[in-house]
Amino acid sequence: MGKCITIGVISVKGGVGKTTVSSNISSALASEFGKKVLLVDANFSTPHCGMHVGLVTPQATIHDVLRGDVSPFQALYEHDSGLHVLPGSLLPKNISPLKLKSKLEPLKDYYDVIILDSSPSLNDEMLATIMSSDELLVVSSLDFPTLSATLHAVKIAKQRKVPIRGLVINRARYKDFELSAEDISNASGIPVLSVLPEDVKVLEALASSTPVTLYAPNRDISIAYKKLAGSLIGVEYQEQGMLSKFGSWFTGRK
Ligand SMILES: Nc1ncnc2c1ncn2[C@@H]1O[C@H](COP(=O)(O)OP(=O)(O)O)[C@@H](O)[C@H]1O
Ligand SMILES: [Mg+2]
Repeated sequence: MGKCITIGVISVKGGVGKTTVSSNISSALASEFGKKVLLVDANFSTPHCGMHVGLVTPQATIHDVLRGDVSPFQALYEHDSGLHVLPGSLLPKNISPLKLKSKLEPLKDYYDVIILDSSPSLNDEMLATIMSSDELLVVSSLDFPTLSATLHAVKIAKQRKVPIRGLVINRARYKDFELSAEDISNASGIPVLSVLPEDVKVLEALASSTPVTLYAPNRDISIAYKKLAGSLIGVEYQEQGMLSKFGSWFTGRK
């Protein structure tokens, strides 16, 4: 297998969409691109990855791994999509966040991509994600408070000399009062990789603990997620249009 790439998903603000973006690009990379993918809940204080992928009361967790109670291989769970998840514990536990990097090391032989869902808190939790990542995605939305948080996240990543792959703009409502993706990109000096719309299907998907890319695969946001996932590994996502679907029925070709 080729070299594993570890991608941290960060923002210095809660509720922007880190966990949603992390779980959807992870499941898209696994189900659409056949990659071996591990989603790690690195938001140690409020770990919600499990809820996004239908894993609510895991036995062993990243907390146990960081405490040295279990090996990282003992805290892996397989999702229906083929995605592997290393979830967090909903019960508070004392941990050393900065051990994350060394604990992930032995897993890298087994995965193509490791996605780290970060904490927004400006402490060792977020630093653990930044220092464990080969590159970062910064999640932003089109309002001033989030822009301010985005500039902050970019500054921290630069101080730590971890490359930022790009911005993921989430919850675009396409209203006049919004900033534009270009505004965020110009202010931060970071390219925009994807603009994801506000979509109630995301909330519906969360209510059934399924990433929206699997819950509503043909929705615009799901297509956008698949394109984003493909771009991260340098593969173009081929949208299967109606024409090609019917075409293959008529010709008998798959
Ligand atoms: N594109 C979207 N459209 C609608 N709701 C969204 C979208 N992205 C995220 N959400 C919702 O916003 C809330 C916060 O998202 P979450 O991923 O948990 O943010 P974070 O991890 O940054 O705190 C969740 O309820 C999620 O379902
Ligand atoms: Mg989160």
